[in-house]
Amino acid sequence: MIKIENLSKYYKSLKAVDGLSLHVKPGELFAFLGPNGAGKTTTIRIMTGLTRRTAGSVSLNGIEVGPKSVAARKQCGLVPQAINLDRELSVYENLTIHGRLFRMGRIERKQRIDELLDYVEMGDRKESLIKNLSGGMKRRVMIARALLHSPAILFLDEPTVGLDPAIRRKIWALIKKIQQRGTTVFLTTHYIEEAEFLADRVAFIDKGKIITVDTPRNLMESIGSWAIDRFVDDDMKPQYFASRKEANDFIATQSESFTLRRVNLEDAFLSLTGKKVGKDHS
Ligand SMILES: Nc1ncnc2c1ncn2[C@@H]1O[C@H](COP(=O)(O)OP(=O)(O)OP(=O)(O)O)[C@@H](O)[C@H]1O
Ligand SMILES: [Mg+2]
Repeated sequence: MIKIENLSKYYKSLKAVDGLSLHVKPGELFAFLGPNGAGKTTTIRIMTGLTRRTAGSVSLNGIEVGPKSVAARKQCGLVPQAINLDRELSVYENLTIHGRLFRMGRIERKQRIDELLDYVEMGDRKESLIKNLSGGMKRRVMIARALLHSPAILFLDEPTVGLDPAIRRKIWALIKKIQQRGTTVFLTTHYIEEAEFLADRVAFIDKGKIITVDTPRNLMESIGSWAIDRFVDDDMKPQYFASRKEANDFIATQSESFTLRRVNLEDAFLSLTGKKVGKDHS
């Protein structure tokens, strides 16, 4: 469904995306996980035709993405990282503008807007001005807008950044529902739990390169099942073990006490990249 071959994007000497290749299957929920500046947004912008690539190729549903490829753009919907709704217009008006851009007829457009607003549970806020909505409501309107022209692929660039845990979970449920209806979903995040909970497969990305791609389970199992956290030189250095028994045997040899915990995706990222994914951004 998404084919990226040897994709690069340079801003002068800065390699924002550096020879990246990736295939995403139809119906898959795929996540890009990486720290600030890893190249996640740049890759999404290239895939959705908003930024020109320096080298390589991208195709969506078999259609090559190029600066003028309207056909490729029709294949995808994008929920960008920053909220870009028109604050002074209503929910309905914002969606109408998008429908017109995609040359949807009036009747089809109206029908689809109503259906999607109900779908994202915003049907009762159709006439509200965007500036009067909460952050979570704005995200849901952006998701409805991205789905309006029935794209085969939905791109979500940090869909839950800055949202409280309850609203975040609601958005997760919505994203799952969208996938279950047959849409391929590609999202970026630096919330580990988001990737762990949602994604069929995850790519760890850093400095414009993919470090590894696999299912969350395989990535976690590749480093072990159990972990303890040790403070070494003012830094936390987890230590991983294949089994609970191995971990307990190790703890028994130590003078300090440790709390045993399950390995998570953050551990896998830390172990493979030497750094944390980071959550310093809202
Ligand atoms: N228009 C631009 N001009 C110059 N440099 C850019 C531009 N857009 C992005 N970059 C640089 O490219 C690199 C990758 O940025 P990108 O926005 O893709 O990262 P990201 O993984 O989405 O990060 P974040 O998690 O902070 O959203 C960064 O070093 C960034 O400063
Ligand atoms: Mg980004």
